[in-house]
Amino acid sequence: MTRSVVLGCGSYLPQNVVTNDDLARRVDTSDDWIQQRTGIRERRIAGSHETTSTMGLEAARRALDAAGVKPADIDLVLLATSTPDNTFPATAVTIQAELGIEQGMAFDLQAVCSGFVFALANADSLLRTGQATRALVIGSETFSRIIDWDDRTTCVLFADGAGAVVVEAQQGTGAMTDRGILASKLRADGRHRTKLYVDGGPSTTGTVGHLRMEGREVFKHAVSMVTDVIEDVFAATGYGAQDIDWFVPHQANRRIIDASAKKLGIAEEKVVITVDRHGNTSAASIPLALDVAVRDGRIKKGDLVLLEAMGGGFTWGASLVRW
Ligand code: UT7
Repeated sequence: MTRSVVLGCGSYLPQNVVTNDDLARRVDTSDDWIQQRTGIRERRIAGSHETTSTMGLEAARRALDAAGVKPADIDLVLLATSTPDNTFPATAVTIQAELGIEQGMAFDLQAVCSGFVFALANADSLLRTGQATRALVIGSETFSRIIDWDDRTTCVLFADGAGAVVVEAQQGTGAMTDRGILASKLRADGRHRTKLYVDGGPSTTGTVGHLRMEGREVFKHAVSMVTDVIEDVFAATGYGAQDIDWFVPHQANRRIIDASAKKLGIAEEKVVITVDRHGNTSAASIPLALDVAVRDGRIKKGDLVLLEAMGGGFTWGASLVRW
């Protein structure tokens, strides 16, 4: 049985650090409020020279280095983003070209904050059905360019960055002890589409638009949606909360992460948290957190790693990976 095995990861953060106090000088907010309600202390915001493709490219290069894989060996570049460089072509083809990759396919996938989990699951399907052999799965976002910087209810939450993983089709035994992506579950429910959206687009306003969110509504659904889909992944693999080595959730809000871990019975010390330093980088948040925990030695080969995300659409999903 073919398994999609993660060979390495990488990430990129803009240099520019924006603290809660910096934001409090611009809108009516405070470090206290932001920390208490979200767990965020600071975030990175792209400079004028940085775009979704430049950040995604750097994360991809670092992931290739870590994996020991050459660009010429990649035949799938799958970029999760809601903030592409242009309406089209897909930003993935810019990254593909900058890496000098001339074979295989490259495309973007848009599932907002769930984008990385959706991209990883789709890459897994393409690898397991033999349509690709080695994939770069990237999450890169420049949310600072779609934020209304006068809206205190959203501008304190979102941020910029990129992360990437290299995934390769390998022969496994089919047992859950195999390395690789063991199971993924993806969901969407468009009835919630106006609770977190951007008020512009090519076929409506002809503008890029700004992010709008009913934060309390998103919060209300987040924990139950995320824990439901994780229970489905557990059912598909036979694993449970006690078997997990690392829980790497989408980094939107510390309260959502803590409540989800508690409801599932996942011990606090197994939860990877980066929201305090990164803010909510949407589709980039999971690969950014993965890269932090791999490079600091927490996530090791053979570990059971649980990923989950929920975001605009609503979309949500989870994936269980043996690293
Ligand atoms: O990736 C998925 C994307 N989004 C999310 O995961 C976000 C999910 N939602 C949340 O994280 C939370 O709902 C927020 C952090 C956005 C807000 O926290 P909350 O505890 O739900 O606060 P709230 O919206 O109920 O607002 C409480 C008060 C309000 O004032 P009043 O009406 O009680 O007088 C807000 O106007 O806090 C006020 N407020 C602020 N105060 C200071 C809202 N934003 C701010 C702010 N600074 N930045």
